[in-house]
Amino acid sequence: MSNDKIVLTGIKPTGMPHIGNYLGALKPLVEMSQNHKTFMFIADLHALNSIHDAKEIKQHTYEIAALLIAIGLNMENTVLFRQSDIDEVYKLSNFLMNVTPKGLMNRAHSYKAIVEKNTESNIDIDSGVNMGLYTYPVLMAADILLYNSDIVPVGKDQKQHVEFARDIAGYFNNIYGETFKLPEPLIGEDCGYIPGLDGRKMSKSYDNTIPLLCSSSELKKKIMRIITDSKTPEESKNPDESTIFQIYKLFANTDEIATLRKQFLDGGMGYGTAKTILYEKIDSVLTEPRKKYEYLMANPSEIDAILADGAKRAKMVASKTVAKVKKKMLGL
Ligand code: TRP
Repeated sequence: MSNDKIVLTGIKPTGMPHIGNYLGALKPLVEMSQNHKTFMFIADLHALNSIHDAKEIKQHTYEIAALLIAIGLNMENTVLFRQSDIDEVYKLSNFLMNVTPKGLMNRAHSYKAIVEKNTESNIDIDSGVNMGLYTYPVLMAADILLYNSDIVPVGKDQKQHVEFARDIAGYFNNIYGETFKLPEPLIGEDCGYIPGLDGRKMSKSYDNTIPLLCSSSELKKKIMRIITDSKTPEESKNPDESTIFQIYKLFANTDEIATLRKQFLDGGMGYGTAKTILYEKIDSVLTEPRKKYEYLMANPSEIDAILADGAKRAKMVASKTVAKVKKKMLGL
């Protein structure tokens, strides 16, 4: 990907990500920020359709901001901000409503899933759907188009939304002339299947996750809960069928991986020992980010200052876009 491309993504403030989220999405973002102009925001407006508790959104916003800084987001290349700080996004979203076909929204996977569920339960198809949820993709298009984004790294579940942003940009350009760049989704390479504590895919909905940043003792407790088979310490074990080894592989270097693989195959190492090795590895990788995170969470005014600076820089770009759109749509 060429270095002059503008990368943008938003993260919804819904709580501490787990290590699966980190490896699949956050780590690649941090890497991309090392050599790209990056816009990264905490999508608190997008949380509003499901979280109606201001305190919770605000707290999670701090957590995500602190986390991104702690895991090494390149702050020279990155404009880090809170979505709701940029008034222009409400404006652009509203303008874009007028070129967005209602039918496009009807096709959104997340909306369709609710309609299907409601239909199965024999209740009104739109039960539980507020307009924030229904028009979620328009707000997301506004996020993306406001900052002239080229590349939008997202998880598979958000790919359609980025394609909608591209469609909406196209509709606008067709009516009003070339205005928006057409953004492209970048879907994180599947970094494979990351197993959770019970061996199923790591996912909040299975309650089998390891939080990315938690206390060292909590991390240890979680890792000790990993489910294993009942082989004795002496027996040879298959590393490729072991959750412990699969997770270890994601944090360790090639030599370390080879050593642990051999210990599994040779036998003589119990699962308790393997878990301790895993715990020590993850703990050492995460010690620095944890320190930084804890420092920032204890000093929220530092986070405020970073977000305020980000908002200022984001606004400079956003206000130009809105001015251009207003001129094209209203002649003003
Ligand atoms: N909808 C995204 C999610 O739920 C978050 C998001 C909001 C976003 N605006 C965005 C992602 C713009 C990429 C670009 O994960």
